[in-house]
Amino acid sequence: MPNNQLTIANDIESLQQALLLLAQAGKTVALVPTMGALHAGHAALIAQGRELADVVVVSIFVNPTQFGEGEDFDKYPRTLTADVQAAQAAGAELIYAPSVNDMYPDGFATTVSAGEMGKILCGKFRQGHFDGVATVVIKLLLRVMPHFAIFGLKDYQQFCIINRVVEDLDIPVEIVGAEIVREADGLALSSRNRYLSEDERKTAPMLYQTIANVAKAIPKTGTEAAINQGISALTTAGFKVDYMEIFEEHLLVAAWLGSTRLIDNVEIGE
Ligand code: PAJ
Repeated sequence: MPNNQLTIANDIESLQQALLLLAQAGKTVALVPTMGALHAGHAALIAQGRELADVVVVSIFVNPTQFGEGEDFDKYPRTLTADVQAAQAAGAELIYAPSVNDMYPDGFATTVSAGEMGKILCGKFRQGHFDGVATVVIKLLLRVMPHFAIFGLKDYQQFCIINRVVEDLDIPVEIVGAEIVREADGLALSSRNRYLSEDERKTAPMLYQTIANVAKAIPKTGTEAAINQGISALTTAGFKVDYMEIFEEHLLVAAWLGSTRLIDNVEIGE
């Protein structure tokens, strides 16, 4: 049984009360921002937080401003009871699970722009998505003022954007990247994997296998040929590929399986 005490704050006042106690006790804090539906990928971030800081704060907030029209905001899994247990088991001591109104009270009007990096790759297909991510992450960082904030490299573009925004806006926090946690068959863990049908779940690991193969083929066949081959392999298997592109020494992919959009990436040029 986990022996860490758990506090759950649902609004900014109770969050800041709990944080004050931690500050008075001289504790360092790591923040792990999430949208809930916690899985082993999130748990690994929390475990990493425990290594870096005295206390891990997990935020659970399905952020409406990062979902576009027609996206899955309404159907996004909300599993707070299970999430609280999972976060505690992984070592969290404080959970911040605000309401939409607590995060965006009436009259809320300001948006952080993710700049050019927010308009490429996933940003081309999900307009405004990264502005919504940047806005909520900056708000969370300012509300919690952690020493460390941990983000998964699974969302590599998001990780790069958060680093940029934090540096540009002089937010005093150390951003830490956590390795991608995968299923045994290679599929990157994601809260959205639970949307997959049984058949789609069988096909899904091909996403990772394909980009791993493409990354290996690049030095032999050249980037364009390797990527074209990868896209056609995925298309043949039933994926609809949004993009497969190199960005910052990583090969990034986003593709649909039925009505589920999956993303993944691998480092290239090791
Ligand atoms: P969410 O998708 O819940 O992810 C929360 C964090 O967990 C992100 O930093 C993400 O990169 C990381 N993560 C998810 N799956 C992972 C995996 N398989 N391996 C390693 N890390 C993984 O990303 C978001 O929420 C939101 O955009 C958020 C940053 C919370 C802002 O709303």
